[in-house]
Amino acid sequence: MSMIDFDGEVALVTGGGSGLGAAIAQKLASRGAAVMVSDIDGESAQNVAARHQGQLSRSGTHQDTPTGNLPADALPAWASQHHRGRLGDPEEVSALICFLLSSRASFITGSYHLVDGGFTAL
Ligand SMILES: NC(=O)c1ccc[n+]([C@@H]2O[C@H](COP(=O)([O-])OP(=O)(O)OC[C@H]3O[C@@H](n4cnc5c(N)ncnc54)[C@H](O)[C@@H]3O)[C@@H](O)[C@H]2O)c1
Repeated sequence: MSMIDFDGEVALVTGGGSGLGAAIAQKLASRGAAVMVSDIDGESAQNVAARHQGQLSRSGTHQDTPTGNLPADALPAWASQHHRGRLGDPEEVSALICFLLSSRASFITGSYHLVDGGFTAL
């Protein structure tokens, strides 16, 4: 079975300056996509693009209202409540996004997918 690749594809990743968006941008670029990173924080978008020079094509700034983010000091308490003792890693989310964007997921639509280490199921 061949690897998922995005040669010839173009992706726009909004909120790509950090966290999940940055991991998704990196994953898509490593599979051959031309990726534009957009973020309300233009500097962070440029940093991500610079870190992966040659893979990420461009960066841009998207001026909008910031989304609410989880307070960093709450994360250890959340992690301690998870049966695996940790929260998910951006890499673990970007792997699913990469698959869903690929032709392998051609019949998957209108559904949602949890990446929570089984938290909801237990
Ligand atoms: N449902 C879940 O289980 C789950 C888990 C993790 C994260 N999240 C959510 O996913 C989102 C991303 O999480 P993260 O950990 O990557 O956060 P993060 O703060 O690391 O990254 C968010 C990025 O989006 C950018 N941004 C914010 N508002 C924007 C806007 N209006 N336009 C463009 N860019 C914007 C920020 O500057 C930042 O670079 C958050 O909303 C978070 O709450 C949900």
